[in-house]
Amino acid sequence: MENVSLQEGQVPDLRVNIGSLELANPVMTASGTFGYAREFENLMNLHRLGAVIVKGISLHPRAGNPPQRIMETACGMLNAIGLQNVGVDRFITEKMNYLAGLNIPVIVNILGDSLAEYEEITKRLAGVPGVAGIEVNISCPNVKKGGVAFGTDPAMAAAVTAAVKNKADVPVMVKLSPNVTDITLIARAVEQAGADSISLINTLIGMGIDLKTRRPVLANVIGGLSGPAIKPVALRMVFEVARVVSIPVIGIGGIESAEDALEFMLAGATAVQIGTANFVNPRASEDVVDGISAYAANEKLTSIRSIIGGLRLDSLKDHATSSHNPVAK
Ligand SMILES: Cc1cc2nc3c(=O)[nH]c(=O)nc-3n(C[C@H](O)[C@H](O)[C@H](O)COP(=O)(O)O)c2cc1C
Repeated sequence: MENVSLQEGQVPDLRVNIGSLELANPVMTASGTFGYAREFENLMNLHRLGAVIVKGISLHPRAGNPPQRIMETACGMLNAIGLQNVGVDRFITEKMNYLAGLNIPVIVNILGDSLAEYEEITKRLAGVPGVAGIEVNISCPNVKKGGVAFGTDPAMAAAVTAAVKNKADVPVMVKLSPNVTDITLIARAVEQAGADSISLINTLIGMGIDLKTRRPVLANVIGGLSGPAIKPVALRMVFEVARVVSIPVIGIGGIESAEDALEFMLAGATAVQIGTANFVNPRASEDVVDGISAYAANEKLTSIRSIIGGLRLDSLKDHATSSHNPVAK
């Protein structure tokens, strides 16, 4: 723990470091839930964000899936947007100027159907003013390998990471899919392949059925589940990953409040991303920053960094003998 003695009148230091990238605070917006940021300019103070992560960008524009593309679930939502976006060239010419002017770190989320596509997008983003980092969405199917998602196979996840790293001139964050048996295998593979940080989790695969029509609710049949419903899964995966990698971990999944964010930080996250909560409360990210600041002041923490990985497991030692218990590892 760093020193924990905030003096009277002192303001807690909320800065965190994601490798070489310094954020003013640990709160970012999650890809696909915040557009290209401009959509939120009248709804919140964008300058308060630790970083903004934009909607996933592909090599060519994508129209996405036909409607219906979203549905509400108990404590969350299902989406099958289908990665609709303007494509990397239009992103650079039409969106980046505005984003660069915000003077907050802009992290560009990218996706591709092949290694070559990931490489090409990264190449086109190199040297673009204002791009502070790349987040690699590896939940997309590798079309060349018959649709197997890059993120579910350690070797393929490593190959994408290495390909992007090879062309990137900014830090590379790799975003993991939770739809795997052992998330630590993928995390280790991308760390070894050169990832500068790891963010998790992307959405869990789900579906909804309309009893009246006896049809799937989503035109795509299956979709990604997000929101508070997935928070315990995300928290567990962040905890597992943070214990086996030495690069920073960024927690995502159902975070709605500062309390949620702080739980992820205790589990080992250096920073967090706010996703579905933006649809409920467009000011959610700003509220989380305020709440983290208030918590730090109340706990007299000079720096929020002191709580990262601070989860106490000491009293659990006696129960930690089962091989099914990750605490026993
Ligand atoms: C409507 C919607 C669109 C999304 N689009 C993307 C995307 O383009 N790229 C990506 O990596 N993740 C995307 N995600 C996943 C989120 O960034 C996030 O990982 C996930 O929703 C879990 O966080 P949450 O529970 O806070 O929403 C999307 C999620 C939603 C709900």
